[in-house]
Amino acid sequence: MAPRPFSRLHRTACARPAFARLLATLALAALPAHADLLPAQISADSVPRPLTATPGDAAHGRALLLARENANCILCHAIPEARFSGNLAPPLDGVGARLSAAQLRLRVADNRQVHPSTIMPSYFRSEGLTGVAAQYRGKTVLTAQEVEDVVAYLQTLK
Ligand code: HEC
Repeated sequence: MAPRPFSRLHRTACARPAFARLLATLALAALPAHADLLPAQISADSVPRPLTATPGDAAHGRALLLARENANCILCHAIPEARFSGNLAPPLDGVGARLSAAQLRLRVADNRQVHPSTIMPSYFRSEGLTGVAAQYRGKTVLTAQEVEDVVAYLQTLK
């Protein structure tokens, strides 16, 4: 069979905005989940721009905070809804009033940039860490979207 010429159908399909959007979505989905913060994203003690185009989902953020899995925030922090939580860190009650979304984003993503000797894990950092459990090596603990979800939930704690 002779190779088919670059078909006209293909060209018109590419020109359609919906098709272009689909391609953009696929390209985003193919990005590695372990892109660390870039210095240019950080301004003073905050990360002003969201890490993802999709706004954070506070309900999912709440579930992440309460789960004793990856995030395990309540190992150290008390939050109003958790019955059993640690006290190695300040309670997060009211943190949404004390800190802006941009400030919360840097603390969740990489609190070491705010408090260099902190015991809090850097949840969106895969480089330059020591003592990382095997399953997290080369990966961030939370994805960019999960950071946004957690930030959205923390903002509700006024
Ligand atoms: C191993 C203990 C530990 C864990 C786990 C931890 N943190 Fe922290 N966090 C701290 C400590 C300690 C501080 C206080 C400042 C400092 O020393 O870094 C802090 C500070 C913060 C702050 C700033 C609070 C303020 O009032 O300024 C936020 C927000 C925060 N943590 C959110 C989280 C979230 C969300 C998680 C889970 C995704 C989490 N932390 C997990 C120890 C922890």
